[in-house]
Amino acid sequence: MQAQTFKVRVDALCEEAHGVRSFSVSRLDGMPFDVYEPGAHIDVTSPSGVTRQYSLCGDPARRESHLFAVKKEAQSRGGSRSLHDEVRVGSELSIGAPRNLFRLEESASEHILIGAGIGITPLLSMAYRLVAIGAPFTLHYFARNETHAAFLPLLARAPFDKHVKLHFGVEREGLPDELDASLRDADKGAHVYTCGPAPFMDVVVETAQKRLPADAIHLERFKAEPQAQTDSSLDTFDVQLASSGKTVRVDASTSIVDALASIGIEVDTSCGEGVCGTCMVDVVSGEPEHRDHCLSKAERASNSVICCCVSRSRSPVLVLDL
Ligand code: FES
Repeated sequence: MQAQTFKVRVDALCEEAHGVRSFSVSRLDGMPFDVYEPGAHIDVTSPSGVTRQYSLCGDPARRESHLFAVKKEAQSRGGSRSLHDEVRVGSELSIGAPRNLFRLEESASEHILIGAGIGITPLLSMAYRLVAIGAPFTLHYFARNETHAAFLPLLARAPFDKHVKLHFGVEREGLPDELDASLRDADKGAHVYTCGPAPFMDVVVETAQKRLPADAIHLERFKAEPQAQTDSSLDTFDVQLASSGKTVRVDASTSIVDALASIGIEVDTSCGEGVCGTCMVDVVSGEPEHRDHCLSKAERASNSVICCCVSRSRSPVLVLDL
């Protein structure tokens, strides 16, 4: 199964911060993009052939172009380095259709967006939407200093300026207090959205949970962090296709995606690390062992979906809606 892809042309490049470049792209066929949901991300295939996920950070209602920003990673395996070093205005790229695992809860009484570094990007598309619907929101942006803060000129002018609070140079020890102060006046019906380095988001979640219910706190990860594996997943289990009853064995060295491929069932994948959600499949019965980083707490608890690239099973048979 192939995800929808678009050939695009790079219309503009902009250095948004130290090591962060934005890319404005439009479709080669001249057609407009569909309106996307704020918080969505796309797959971008760099000239090196590596595909990575990047949040859309422009106005979701703007259909003639997509905007995404890329931080040049020191440890880049070809994705961000290639986009920074090999792409010029006029270059052609391949991108995927937007997917969203980081949704705005528009019924919230207040929205508190908390980003750090390149984590500002999905929050920006949310900010555009919140301005458009006139919803109350504050965007807290944490960065080492001005040089490392992306999109500052945009954040400093209307309509965003009165919603933005900048937090520069906050040390790790001071972060819980700074966040607590930012959340102190949160409305009971507020929702919090955070994106940034994993340790930063961990502190945001921990702090926010003292004041708000867990389902009012949303986060987006873009890199798989090592996580402790529990003992309750089985080394070997069977995956059954609900449509045909066909079964395939998944052993300790095989992923569900690979096992399914061996019987001719292709599940769409992108990151292969449990962060993008491309490989999500509905679970009909059985108990998944969730090892992804993208499902919500509610989705995990319901066991209704599984990310087949990394997750496994706690029950001997997992029946998937395939
Ligand atoms: S392919 Fe990205 S979560 Fe599985």
